[in-house]
Amino acid sequence: MDALGGVLCIFGATGDLAAKKILPALQQWSEEGLPFSRVWCLGRRALDAEGYLALIEAKGAVCLGEQLRKRIEYHRLEFEDAAAYQTLAARMHAEGGARTGRRLFFLAVKPDAFVPITTQLHAAGLLATGNPEHRLLLEKPFGDSLRSAAAIQEQLLPLVSEEQLYRIDHYLGKEMIRNILTIRFANRLFSESWHGGAIDRVEVTSIETAGVEERLDYYDRAGAINDMIQSHLLQMVALVAMGAPNDLAPESIRRAKIDVLDHLRPDPSCPPVLGQYAGYQDQVPGSATETAVEATLRVDTPQWQGARFVVRTGKKLAEKRTEIRLHFRPTRLCVDCGETVEAAANQLVIQVFPHEGVELQFNSKTPGYDYDIEQVTAEYCHSCRMIGNRPEAYVKLLKDAWEGDKTLFAGFDELQAQWRIADGLRGAAAQGRLVIYAPGSATLTPLGGLA
Ligand code: BG6
Repeated sequence: MDALGGVLCIFGATGDLAAKKILPALQQWSEEGLPFSRVWCLGRRALDAEGYLALIEAKGAVCLGEQLRKRIEYHRLEFEDAAAYQTLAARMHAEGGARTGRRLFFLAVKPDAFVPITTQLHAAGLLATGNPEHRLLLEKPFGDSLRSAAAIQEQLLPLVSEEQLYRIDHYLGKEMIRNILTIRFANRLFSESWHGGAIDRVEVTSIETAGVEERLDYYDRAGAINDMIQSHLLQMVALVAMGAPNDLAPESIRRAKIDVLDHLRPDPSCPPVLGQYAGYQDQVPGSATETAVEATLRVDTPQWQGARFVVRTGKKLAEKRTEIRLHFRPTRLCVDCGETVEAAANQLVIQVFPHEGVELQFNSKTPGYDYDIEQVTAEYCHSCRMIGNRPEAYVKLLKDAWEGDKTLFAGFDELQAQWRIADGLRGAAAQGRLVIYAPGSATLTPLGGLA
């Protein structure tokens, strides 16, 4: 079984993320051929491989094919139980796969389990310090504040090198988010007007219809700022606001993102608004955790003078939608031609979900004899051009981690900059009032503009 030479170990394998994202991604990848000889699924429940597969298929509503099924093994393990890691090592060794080959350890667990798991893997000889073939994939969030992220990093570094760490932000694996730099920098039409002089505001939105579901324990401690803004939304803002990288090397892109993140701050004149869907407190009485946020940020660089970046996210809203919308400043058809020929502001929308594409709103003459101006829309459908399976974000990220390409994984310095902003937002929001909104709301009046 070890001919293919690699193993993947998934911690938290009975959880939602494994069932809904990781195993379905492996299924999609297996249709092209998986490089792993074994996929070790690790969890606390007493199950065998068959029982585990049945659980995942039911929970994730996914059907796993034979190629993948025959590679999956289940191993019961409490995160701090040293003996269970020894048995795992013995089982892996018995297959000839424990001492050689590439090993990916996917920690789909809460951040407070990162250090205990890594410590045990190291002690059991499964993860060697500094071996670039032994990689830790860490699901977000990495900590819950700048301070806790630094503490985790400090405890991990004696056990593994930074090179071995692959911090996951699955939004970076999404097709249209990977398209942002191309759209920006490969089109003079856009690159020349990508600044605060031409753009009034950029709205980065990721809203959803689902509630917290089975993740209350994690979510109630995280809230929407830590769950979504700190990672996904700030990464989108960084990709939109960063300067052109020197080249396309992972380090150059990361550097350009950090440069802009270091200049990003909450707008003091517009404090963040936090919301919570009605009914949340039936599950967690008295909780003040936010399930929706709208915040305005400013990028303190000459390029972005005068522009606002509005980030918003929320659960149990009327629709599931992720997009980046740039509102250009309005212009006029002629210098002194009166209000009637004032042109509407252009908008450029990078659509991430449910549509994947680009929408451009521009002005045109109305058809016919007259010269009235009207706003029209040009649409590009990116997903329409993908034949067969669209590459899911987790497939892309798993493949990159397997190949050792770190372009789409956040470095620690980048993460520190993101936590600094998230901590700032939480601080700025602390004085505000929590808005309770009705599940399914399209517009949250006090939050404003969520339609
Ligand atoms: C996760 C958050 O990172 O992203 C979830 O923890 C959220 O709370 C999810 O629902 C949204 O991801 P997507 O890909 O469905 O937009």
